[in-house]
Amino acid sequence: MATFVVFSSFIVYATWRAFADKDYFTEPYLSPFYSPCLTDSCKAAADFGTPFGGFPLSAALIILVFPLSFRLTCYYYRKSYYRAFWLSPPACAVAEPHAKYTGETRLPLILNNIHRYAWYAAMVIGVILTYDVVLAFGPAEGESDGIHMGLGTLVLLANVVLIWLYTLSCHSCRHAVGGRLRHFSKHPVRYWMWTQVSKLNAHHAKFAWYSLFSVALADLYVMLVANGTIEDLRFF
Ligand code: FES
Repeated sequence: MATFVVFSSFIVYATWRAFADKDYFTEPYLSPFYSPCLTDSCKAAADFGTPFGGFPLSAALIILVFPLSFRLTCYYYRKSYYRAFWLSPPACAVAEPHAKYTGETRLPLILNNIHRYAWYAAMVIGVILTYDVVLAFGPAEGESDGIHMGLGTLVLLANVVLIWLYTLSCHSCRHAVGGRLRHFSKHPVRYWMWTQVSKLNAHHAKFAWYSLFSVALADLYVMLVANGTIEDLRFF
């Protein structure tokens, strides 16, 4: 029930924000829902150009498909939503209501096999969000050039750390760095990387939850500052 309620709340919030197409940027913060911002409406936030120029809908819709497909096909989230939404099965050793079991062999669930490719895209998004955090150390409106920091900087920083922990603890990441090897002894570097990713992997479910909260909170913070509901707390 908790999984159902939290995921449903996130979906409602993310859908509302993705279609809002406003209050996603306030110097120097860009909401992670809208990054990278690739349309004409992004103006000062379009650090990667505007290849989608006059896209008529929200700028978030162009890029959210990547993190969304990453999370939807995640092994942990699959377990969660199969149980919480489809009761398939509701828990271990509890019979499921469906008469027939086809697993992930047919549409739409067969699409879950794209997870490896969604992970590649998530790595790119992770780099872009890290770039946004570097920019978040820049001046807000009215501040002089140089390094600055506000509460928003910390919010975006915490979010990107959790996003990286989630992305690097992914099962596909573990396989990408250490899979398809016959002898670890002949690949010490990959073995070391696999060992580190395996340690993170043990906490993947936690990172899935934490990063889900952090990305929503980061967006919420940027939105509240951008629409003037709150003022960003500036430290220096
Ligand atoms: Fe969860 Fe890859 S298994 S993100």
